[in-house]
Amino acid sequence: MKKVYLRTFGCQMNEYDSERMLALLKGEYIPCETPEEADLILINTCSVREKAEYKVYSLVGRFKHLKARRPELVVGVCGCVAQQEGEKLVKRLPHVDLVLGPQNIYRLPEALEELQKGRRPLVLTEMRRDFKPPLVLSDLDGKRLVKAYVTIMQGCDNFCSYCVVPYVRGREVSRPPEDILREIECLVHQGVREVTLLGQNVNSYGKKEAGYPSFAELLRMVAEIPELWRIRFTTSHPKDLSEDLMRAFAEVDKLCEHLHLPVQSGSTRILKRMNRGYSREDYLEKVRRLRALCPGIALTSDIIVGFPGETEEDFEATLSLLEEVRFDEIFSFKYSDRPYARAREFTDKVPEEVKAARLERIHALQARITEEINRSYIGKTVEVLVEGPSETRPELFTGRTRTNHVVNFSAPRELDLKGALVYVLIKDTGKHSLRGEYLETVKGP
Ligand code: SAH
Ligand code: SF4
Ligand code: F3S
Repeated sequence: MKKVYLRTFGCQMNEYDSERMLALLKGEYIPCETPEEADLILINTCSVREKAEYKVYSLVGRFKHLKARRPELVVGVCGCVAQQEGEKLVKRLPHVDLVLGPQNIYRLPEALEELQKGRRPLVLTEMRRDFKPPLVLSDLDGKRLVKAYVTIMQGCDNFCSYCVVPYVRGREVSRPPEDILREIECLVHQGVREVTLLGQNVNSYGKKEAGYPSFAELLRMVAEIPELWRIRFTTSHPKDLSEDLMRAFAEVDKLCEHLHLPVQSGSTRILKRMNRGYSREDYLEKVRRLRALCPGIALTSDIIVGFPGETEEDFEATLSLLEEVRFDEIFSFKYSDRPYARAREFTDKVPEEVKAARLERIHALQARITEEINRSYIGKTVEVLVEGPSETRPELFTGRTRTNHVVNFSAPRELDLKGALVYVLIKDTGKHSLRGEYLETVKGP
């Protein structure tokens, strides 16, 4: 059997796509740990920020000497940088054999056949407006996976002015509900207990297709699957967060009480320039409504600092929004210019050192809030889906609360808790996790 070395950068959608590629290669290739032992190297790339793209170029560059030593080695670049760069990639890195855009990863087997016949390099980056990812079911090989991702839609139509995604992933297209349900049933049959439904903007699921359920309806259909215990989804665009979907948090038991709701900025003026389609007040109003419907809900968010034209006052509006909402966690980034994105033409760019200083202030503020929220868990009993032993502390088990907090906990050694739903008493906090003690099993693995 040949060996494939696959590395994934970027969002969960890329992780999902990487799983599909492995499923397509099954029977011919087995995954390996290092590029040195591989017959096929695949790098699934992200171009959402400048730094992400840079990482790809430097990593792929390093395979040059491997290819020189073993010309039969196949080097492939897939995903969003592949789409963005296309032919340019093989010109800059002539040792690359294969370039596969996100819509073309399903053509991997036929591409490898072509390469076998000596046709190289191959650049497959055609995009179709109506592209639907085909149904490729995963065989987990008895791997005992507890949770999995399932893509429910592809692409994005929002064109936020800083963002490359609509250009590299194409237009928004929803997958047929029957494919989604079949895929989840197949995963659950193999022992998966939690699924995360994925899309750049899941809230607009089904809107463009006649006869499709809405996203809130789809959630309710997924919740009917027996032996599936937990459902999550990401990402939600605030402008499309409907009343019906907010109600689902109160009404659908399996839906976990956590929502990732990227706000990007707390300044209405900047939000307008970002083309986000909501104001600071709209966002805060949705948060109030959500918390009224589902009081314990945990919220997380993404923030961009130093967007072109962001003044000190705009930035302080973001800080005050963080104080007001009190997110459990945020992911914050310095603005960077991206190809095709409109904001790259904005002339009032914020200097690098100002961006860096603002990022630090955001980190400090959020670290305090996260710590306060974590401390509030001490003494509480939480439900945890156990993923297995902790990677850093193998004597502890690890899993997540319904609110998506990582919990590391001690339990009697003889218990095999992987895949079980358990109650844990929280005793302490770490920087990014909670610490606790096993109380009892709610549902067995
Ligand atoms: N679809 C999701 C997010 C996709 S990208 C959404 O609508 O929110 C993930 C995050 O990367 C974004 O939320 C944003 O915070 C960040 N990001 C995207 N483009 C960026 C850029 N040009 N510079 C800095 N951060 C960026
Ligand atoms: Fe990018 Fe905006 Fe689409 Fe998210 S919603 S992927 S930030 S364009
Ligand atoms: Fe990155 Fe592409 Fe995802 S740019 S964030 S891998 S959609």
